[in-house]
Formats: sequence, C-alpha cells, structure tokens
Amino acid sequence: CGIVGYVGPQPALQVVVDGLARLEYRGYDSAGIAVLSGGRLQTEKRAGKLANLREALEAAPPEADGIGIGHTRWATHGAPTDVNAHPHVDNDRRVAVIHNGIIENFAALRVELEERGCKFSSETDTEVAAHLLGEELKDRGDGDLAAAMRSVCRRLEGAFTLVATAVDDPGLIVAARRNSPLVVGRGDGENFLASDVAAFIAHTRDAIELGQDQVVELRAEEVRVTDYDGRPAPVREYHVDWDASAAEKGGYEYFMLKEIVEQPRALADTLLGRVAADGTLTLDEMRLTPADLREISKIVIIACGTSYHAGMIAKYAVEHWCRIPCEVEVASEFRYRDPILDHRTLVIAISQSGESMDTLMAVRYAREQGARVLAICNVNGSTIPRESDAVLYTHAGPEVGVAATKTFLTQLAACYLVGLYLAQVRGHKFGDEINTVIGQLAHMPEQVEKVLDTVDPVRALARSLADADTVLFLGRHVGYPVAMEGALKLKELAYMHAEAFAAGELKHGPIALIEDGLPVVVVVPSREGRSVLHDKIVSNIQEIRARGARTVVIAEEGDEAVRPFADELVEIPAVPTLLQPIVSTVPLQVFACELALAKGNDVDQPRNLAKSVTVE
Ligand code: G6P
Repeated sequence: CGIVGYVGPQPALQVVVDGLARLEYRGYDSAGIAVLSGGRLQTEKRAGKLANLREALEAAPPEADGIGIGHTRWATHGAPTDVNAHPHVDNDRRVAVIHNGIIENFAALRVELEERGCKFSSETDTEVAAHLLGEELKDRGDGDLAAAMRSVCRRLEGAFTLVATAVDDPGLIVAARRNSPLVVGRGDGENFLASDVAAFIAHTRDAIELGQDQVVELRAEEVRVTDYDGRPAPVREYHVDWDASAAEKGGYEYFMLKEIVEQPRALADTLLGRVAADGTLTLDEMRLTPADLREISKIVIIACGTSYHAGMIAKYAVEHWCRIPCEVEVASEFRYRDPILDHRTLVIAISQSGESMDTLMAVRYAREQGARVLAICNVNGSTIPRESDAVLYTHAGPEVGVAATKTFLTQLAACYLVGLYLAQVRGHKFGDEINTVIGQLAHMPEQVEKVLDTVDPVRALARSLADADTVLFLGRHVGYPVAMEGALKLKELAYMHAEAFAAGELKHGPIALIEDGLPVVVVVPSREGRSVLHDKIVSNIQEIRARGARTVVIAEEGDEAVRPFADELVEIPAVPTLLQPIVSTVPLQVFACELALAKGNDVDQPRNLAKSVTVE
C-alpha cells in the first residue's frame, strides 16, 4: 500500500521508517523494511502498526549503509501476518522485493518456480516476483537488476508496482510501475522513491512521476527511467507545492479533527478562480470541445464509498440544471453489468485519491466503449485524472484521516461546479439561476464555519450514545445521500451498525425496526421551495417518535415545525435546498468522530480500512 525507497548518504533505515510513518494515513495492516549493508541484505517485518516494526528494529538494529526500501501492506493475497509482510526475498537472500497491487498470474508462476526448486515462505503473490527476480539474476549472471526487472515485468499480469534491491549492486534500487502509483523524489546526492510525495516531502520537493510500464533505476547521483524494453522513457518532472506542515496534525489530536475544521478553507480553495469576469466557469483540464459536451445525452456518475455519496447528491443538481438523464452507480458494479455507453455518454468519475482501482477500471471500461470521462479528484496527477478527458480537482489538500471529510465537502462543491459548467456550455436558459447558484456557492465556506461554531452540543450527544447498538439515519431528496454518508461514517469510525433509509421508505419496512430508545438521526430538508418534502418528513419524525425512537433532528435554524418532535435538535444555517448537504453533513461527521473517540477508537486509521484501495 505504501512504498518508500532511499539511496544516499543519510542513515537509510531512519529515512525509510520516517517515510513509512508519513504514509500511515493510507491505511495498512503490516510493515517491513530491507536495508543493504556490507553486501548483506537485512530485512525486518511485522504485522500490525509501524510501532511493532520499530520495536523489532530497536531490539535488533540492522546496519544500513545508504540504501533501504520499506513497505506498509494492506493484505490482498494472504492474511496480515509477519511472514506475509513485505519485503520478500529469493532463496539465496540476494534480492528483496516490495510490491503494491496484485499479480494475477501468480499461481501459475508459483508452480513453475517451485518446480525449479524455489522455496516459498509466504502465501503472497509478491514472493513470486522475488523468486522470479532471483532466478533471472542467476540465469543472467551479470548482476543487472534493471534488466532482470524488465524481463520479470514482461511476464507478470495484473496491476503492480515493484521495488527491488540486490546484493550484487548495493548502490541501486530498481522499481517498475504498472497501475499502482510511484514517484521519485530528487535530492542533492540522494534520491527517494515513494508511492506518495508525503513520504519524502521533508527532504525534497522535486519529483518525477513515473508513467505506466516504466522502470526506474535509482542511485545516489542518478535517476534513469526506461520502458520494459530498456529504451529511455519520457517522464513528468514537477515541483510539489504542498506545505510539509499541511500534512501534519496542526495541534489536533487526530488528523480527522483537523480536517473537519479545515473544511471552510478547503471549500473556498475548490471554488477559487472558477468564475471568469464574464461569468463563465472553468475546470482544471479540458480535452473535450463545447461541441462534444453539447452532444452528451446521458450522464453516468461512478465512484466508491464517500465519493459515491457525493455522486448521489450530484445527480439531483445535474438533472435539475442540465436536464440530462443522470445515473449514479458504485464503480465496482458498473462494468460487470454491460452498461449502455457510447460517445454521447459522459461518465463522471469521482475519486478523492484518483487511484481507487474499482473506479479506475470503470473509467477504462467506459472509455473503451467510447464514452467521454470527466474526473473529479483531489490528488493532482493521479491515474484517474490522467486517463480522463476532463478534470476538475477539488484542491482540498492532503487528507490524512482514512475517513473522508473535507474531500467529501469539496467533492460536493466540485459536482455543483461541473453541473453548472455543463448547463452553461450547453446553453441552458437558466442564466439567472446559474449565476445565483454560483453566488450562493461562494457563501458556503462561511455557512460551514457557522456550523463548526455551533457544533459542540453534537459532541455531548455523541458521547451519550456511545453504548447504542444501532443508529438509524433518515433523509429525503439530497438529504438521503447525506443520511447514507452519516451512517457510513459511523460504521467506519465507531464500528457500529448504522443504516440509512429514504424517509419515504420507512413505512415499507424499516419502521418495524423502531423500538424504545432506538436513536434515529433525521436530516430535514430545507423549507425553500420543496416544503412538501419538509412536511412529509416532519410526519415521519412523529411516526417514529410515537414508537419510542429517540429522535436526533438536523434542521434549519428557526424550523419551529420540527422542534416539538425532536429529542435532540441540531440546527444548521438555512441554505438553498440543493446545497444543503454541504452544511448538513458536518454535524454527522462530528457525531461519528466523537462517538468513535468515546469508544476509544483510532479515528485516523479505523480498523480494516485503507485510504486508497488500489485493488479491485
Ligand atoms: C476507501 C476509503 C473511503 C473512500 C473510498 C473511495 O474505501 O476508505 O473513505 O471514500 O475508498 O476513495 P476515492 O479515493 O476513490 O474517493
């Protein structure tokens, strides 16, 4: 899941372990390192948190002399154990390998290698790569690790980034990239390698992004990038403008708490510079013509997890403003159901990381079918935006907490911008409404600030519910996906059973779940325009309360109609209906976070979860 490599004069072990610590936010279940010392390869690896690895290293410190690789693993093949953690080595312990992704043909390769006498100690697909490299080096006899890597990569199927180091050439790290991200950090007399710039930002801000099917050879004074045939390959060099402190906790106990508070700033950054003097909106990258966009007859939004909830909310806005049919689907289901796509379909892929494998595969499938793809992502230069026809970055900055918060709010803003942009390009006659909404969006950062200023009672409420077994969430219209996001946050952080329903569905089944004292969180629609929905949900609150539910009601300030039926009332600012999720989500984030903290959970790294899931 996280990769770090270092070649240079500093103590490699320290650089590598510190780098792994900076990648902890990606989520992982085990960690390991390999260092080369005096022609000897030393490895150490442990299941669990990085602290376990650190302890093992302190108990038996290896000697590092300027070259090291490290890995945090999120189990795919084989359980998260010490043995299955990376790095893996070949029979003779001459080469160490770490790997992100999945080698799909590993089973066949393993049989072949076992026939050649290779002894496997783990259940991982990675170990296959280690033995393949070891055998290849033996066969070649020239110690050329890069050449061996190229030929191994030609044999592997699937998605992988491989990093290797070998005793034959103790000043060299070789890595190969297919699908899973990999960046090089260029220093002065030293070089770094990582799955994410956060790992080396404390040392250098000059980075090289590796492309698909490229191999990099990293020495203290040299970085060489080639394709699998050994030909020099083009690379993208760039300067990282993230502040190192932007990835630190800024005085909060958890990144998540800091990220919740950062939301007004993050939203403002998403909206920054989008509207030209003449009122026209811009995206970040646009490789489609206005004529292409005018041809669009259908929109399909694909995403996973929290990003999927942003997509569900986007549907309401996009259909309303653009008058184009819009479907929303979880990315993992999309390509397996033979969806109907052509060049008149616009697929909007929403992904914070830009690396979720489910979403990436859906994007690739959509493009193969001729659809156009517009990406909404947070991580600049990540794979999904690079493979899309148009991109809008959320510019929320790095999000370290595994559970999405500020990136969700900024995704919402980005979705609104995309909807308005499409309406504008397609010449819809909503000129005034579009300009009004652009103006309203500009005020949302202050509205979120208001929610944050008044959210404290939600913390006390959350603590009072720490012993509940189940919490239900109800919403309607855009409040329904908000309820789903509230329930997801509670599952992710507090490991509680939480479920969301469209309030209108209550009577068709879920009402049978209501019993005495059951907490039910209700997201009440704004009273603007759609007061019918508002009134219906007030009836729903009465119905569940009459059956004993403890009602936690999130409603606009001054909404007197709900007050008599709310055991707990959380007030949010009155904003236009379609934009309400930007404010109504915030108390739900705080609620889940505080409840999880009350249970003693690690809200930044919830169990079993990864920030970016780069396997299908
Ligand atoms: C993982 C994370 C979720 C996230 C989802 C989609 O499951 O734990 O928080 O919503 O991936 O990630 P993406 O980067 O594609 O938005």
